[in-house]
Amino acid sequence: RQEIGMANPPVESMKELPSGAGKIPHINAVILGDSLASEEHDLVFPSADFSREALVSSPEQYLQMYRRSIEDPAGFWSEIASQFYWKQKWGQPVFSQNLDVRKGPIHIEWFKGGVTNICYNCLDRNVESGNADKVAIYWEPNEPGPHDSLTYAQLLHRVCQLANYLKDIGVKKGDAVVIYLPMLMELPIAMLACARIGAVHSVVFAGFSAESLAQRIVDCKPKVVITCNAVKRGPKPIHLKDIVDTAIDESAKSGVSVDVCLTYENQSALKRESTKWREGRDVWWQDVVPNYPTTCEVEWVDAEDPLFLLYTSGSTGKPKGVLHTVGGYMVYTAITFKYAFDYKPSDIYWCTADCGWITGHSYVTYGPLLNGATVVVYEGAPNYPDSGRCWDIVDKFKYVTRYSRKSLRVLGSVGEPINPTAWRWFFNVVGDSRCPISDTWWQTETGGFMITPLPGAWPQKPGSATFPFFGVQPVIVDEKGVEIEGECSGYLCVKDSWPGAFRTLYGDHERYETTYFKPFPGYYFSGDGCSRDKDGYHWLTGRVDDVINVSGHRIGTAEVESALVSHPNCAEAAVVGVEHEVKGQGIYAFVTLVEGVPYSEELRKSLIVTVRQQIGAFAAPDKIHWAPGLPKTRSGKIMRRILRKIASKQLDELGDTSTLADPGVVKQLIELADR
Ligand code: WT7
Repeated sequence: RQEIGMANPPVESMKELPSGAGKIPHINAVILGDSLASEEHDLVFPSADFSREALVSSPEQYLQMYRRSIEDPAGFWSEIASQFYWKQKWGQPVFSQNLDVRKGPIHIEWFKGGVTNICYNCLDRNVESGNADKVAIYWEPNEPGPHDSLTYAQLLHRVCQLANYLKDIGVKKGDAVVIYLPMLMELPIAMLACARIGAVHSVVFAGFSAESLAQRIVDCKPKVVITCNAVKRGPKPIHLKDIVDTAIDESAKSGVSVDVCLTYENQSALKRESTKWREGRDVWWQDVVPNYPTTCEVEWVDAEDPLFLLYTSGSTGKPKGVLHTVGGYMVYTAITFKYAFDYKPSDIYWCTADCGWITGHSYVTYGPLLNGATVVVYEGAPNYPDSGRCWDIVDKFKYVTRYSRKSLRVLGSVGEPINPTAWRWFFNVVGDSRCPISDTWWQTETGGFMITPLPGAWPQKPGSATFPFFGVQPVIVDEKGVEIEGECSGYLCVKDSWPGAFRTLYGDHERYETTYFKPFPGYYFSGDGCSRDKDGYHWLTGRVDDVINVSGHRIGTAEVESALVSHPNCAEAAVVGVEHEVKGQGIYAFVTLVEGVPYSEELRKSLIVTVRQQIGAFAAPDKIHWAPGLPKTRSGKIMRRILRKIASKQLDELGDTSTLADPGVVKQLIELADR
């Protein structure tokens, strides 16, 4: 028991809480008074001290709040939304929705008619309420050494200067701005500046290649791209501006031109003299932005106006432009941040995610700043100069002796299933068996946490994301879309909307409906498998579609395949995910070469380079498996089920191969596995 950090003595009996109308989570294993569930359930309890101080400190309190959020969503969410500044209050109804394709087009609206601004609520509101001199951002550079910081007042000034510049060059409400920046303070500054003037930011992770960036530019047609000349990630400088140049040239071929490329001079990585430059288009950030006034009037926008686009991978080729709107996203990210991390105003909070992904949007920038939190932003890689760097940073900002990690209170995990062994390491080693872990399940599409522990409220189970957040109704359905109750496993869907839900896929509402709402009519379909145990805990089991998750990076197998087949020597490719000890999933590519081309080590390398160039280094296949032929049905459909088994060497589980057009290819593939 000691090992899993139980703070309290065990009990003899488990009590069950009453559950309402089948909608309320069924929590079987609860602490009622000082009684505890038994050890064999592998429960890890928050300490009594932690719970006493927590925002939600018992299952009963959670259930009471949860019940209210489901039975009276309009009232529940209005109360939370009222904590923010609204120039004009929202109208009635508080929300409207249709999530059922059989009843017409899918639509979701929250706080419609409400007029607000998320940048105002992140910055001005905090400055005016006494937090002006509180640190908003601590910035830790790639190289260990002195750090930088901005108070709320200073951050507001910087944001206003950039906002004024953007307005001056003609960026207006509703215009798209592409941001291709590493984790400099300028990245959240750029996001907030866009939000302030009602422009729609689209941050592209700076690990994406020129081709991927071009694809996104062509889709959302920004007037401006904001970037920096270079960045050092670990020891290696990466010339981001060169990548942007190539991407802008590439976009021009599709008729999309970019007027301005605002470039931050990141001196620690590259001097401006050594940066390639296009007169007339390129502008140094430092030459223009600081000359603008430090105040900038806010563009008041409707709650349902777009806030940002963020491209994410789907199971077919083209990335999807997930669109989030201002009001609901603001309310949802703020409140999920507060409860999932049991936020206290004295906390210093560090989220290691990059703002190029949704986690960095919701839980580096918006969620924490809306709460007036102090956020650590780290430029570099977690293992540079060595693997102690994270703990160095943790201790640094709490000013205690090296690597004590004593300041840690709550740990977070996101992006992929965390297996119980990794969970225990995180809990016992990093958190000294003291800090609850918020294993948060959610998606780019959901805007914020959906299934997550509330750290002081109930015991955790290593590897389980536990129970739904307020207002979220997860349901598990079978293949026919029928809801299954109790202990079960199936497809994870969500019933009814929540404020942070995405509203559409940019320019393709039909794909939005087809991908997320048609598979199981009446529900939002997540693409994930999930099981629920007898105590009501949720266990995410991974994607059930052709999306793979490599170190938390979401990659469509189709994207990797189309990159591979763009190689002149590649005739056909089929990509599957395989279990990977470190990365969660690895990328395993079966490749058929053009007739007459021999397989060689050199060719293998050049195939991998092609993927790196077209998508990014994080999508490089771990294994190329030469496949003279692929297992296909008579109608030509590749049987990935078989490929997955071959890739994971589960050869006794190949199943029925008789429906293949040529069953012989399976044997051939097995023989070539170690080539
Ligand atoms: C996919 C969404 C959400 C921020 C980062 C990823 C997987 C996410 C968990 C978790 C198990 C998880 C799912 C989901 N996922 N969180 N706690 N446990 N799996 O966002 O790139 O949109 O990916 O990540 O498969 O569908 P994303």
